[in-house]
Amino acid sequence: ATRKHSAGHPASFVVVANRLPVDRVTNPDGSSDWRSSPGGLVTALEPVLKSQGGAWIGWTGAADEDLDPFDHDGIEIVPVALSGQEIREYYEGFSNATLWPLYHDVVAHPEFHREWWDAYRKVNRRFAERAAEVAENGAIVWVQDYQLQLVPEILRELRPDLRIGFFLHIPFPPTELFQQLPWRREIIEGLLGADLVGFQTTGGAQNFSRLVRQRAHHPTQRGNIELPDGRRVLTRAYPISIQTREFYELAKDPKTKARAEEIRHDVGDPKHLFLGVDRLDYTKGIYQRLRAFGELISDGALDPAEAVFVQVANPSRERVEEYKKLRDDIERLVGRLNGEIGGLGRPVINYMHTSYGREDMAALYRAADVMVVTPLRDGMNLVAKEYIACRQDDDGALILSEFAGAARELRQAYMINPYDINQMKERMLEAATDSPRNKARRMRILRRQVFDHDIDRWAGNFLDDLNHFARSK
Ligand code: G6P
Repeated sequence: ATRKHSAGHPASFVVVANRLPVDRVTNPDGSSDWRSSPGGLVTALEPVLKSQGGAWIGWTGAADEDLDPFDHDGIEIVPVALSGQEIREYYEGFSNATLWPLYHDVVAHPEFHREWWDAYRKVNRRFAERAAEVAENGAIVWVQDYQLQLVPEILRELRPDLRIGFFLHIPFPPTELFQQLPWRREIIEGLLGADLVGFQTTGGAQNFSRLVRQRAHHPTQRGNIELPDGRRVLTRAYPISIQTREFYELAKDPKTKARAEEIRHDVGDPKHLFLGVDRLDYTKGIYQRLRAFGELISDGALDPAEAVFVQVANPSRERVEEYKKLRDDIERLVGRLNGEIGGLGRPVINYMHTSYGREDMAALYRAADVMVVTPLRDGMNLVAKEYIACRQDDDGALILSEFAGAARELRQAYMINPYDINQMKERMLEAATDSPRNKARRMRILRRQVFDHDIDRWAGNFLDDLNHFARSK
């Protein structure tokens, strides 16, 4: 990894994220190409990246891949290489077995290992150095998420001319939990290298401000943090969203409608189709939700001839121990429920451990009478917003955990506490059997919220604040 990279073109707008916005696709002849990955963040930032000759710095997802920057669709792609050991220690270890559970209210036990921290520091420095090489004078650099919290500080040391923004896509925990981290001071200082530190919710931004006051002893006032050297940092909430229009249009397509009908038919044309869609992650409350549904059937409150649960679990972080364990737990539960309360040819839970493309997702959302989103803790939860965007009529019902960031905005959802199984059962029943009038009233308000606050508006708000705030210094 000592060879010198070609630096690529200098860019006035640079995104730094753990993952690149492209996926590798292998052709039948064995050669490979890059295809834009489907995420909303990529699509939202695409216009800005293209108009400004932007660059995106990130990891390809493979080990030991030392690639030169290349152009993809008018965006400069700048790969950062990670060794197998760095993937284990920085990505699977510190990012996903230390920070992830700690920031999600320790719903799983975070592991603290000094070697993992060393790898995290080293890899963060590598990302920052790449950004410093690529950014032109006075450029805007937008750093994304918990994997890269040290990048703002390192980058500022290397390039004081830059305007640096940071956005955390996951929750920022209460100070009492954050303090467990042996490297808490370093993380705070890492983040304070940015001009603007954005969070999903005001709660997250407040947790951060409080932490800065208590641990770093910097004065803060209404999101303004004053550093001893006179520099100011702004911290605020920017609830992320989706490409609402695009989802709506996709769902409206007659092909999607036909596919939705086919799905309902395939699962036995039930009266109530419940749907869950999540990365297979222990923060998502999948186990609790399936148990609640199972009890509704075994209690006799729901008839297995009328109600079906479709659970799509997207494979995720499969080499991390907690994720393996979770998969075993969920699959054992699904097997038990289908064995006990399902009938021949009629499983009560249709469980798929796979990922679907956007078209299939839109069809699933259209097919679902009740969308069940029950995370124990979630930064935002975009599945909830996608469901709303895809509904064509004023029917359908969204069950939403109060512990998802989305609950701050989607107040007309059927709200639940995922730890309260009885309440979850009641709400599932209510959502399934509520009057069309009640459902329509809720859905209209939800729809307005998601249409008025799409991801373009999110990116625009963040970048406007970064521009104006940093200029006014
Ligand atoms: C969450 C995180 C993202 C991450 C994604 C998928 O949404 O906030 O930073 O990219 O999960 O996880 P993975 O570990 O596969 O990148």
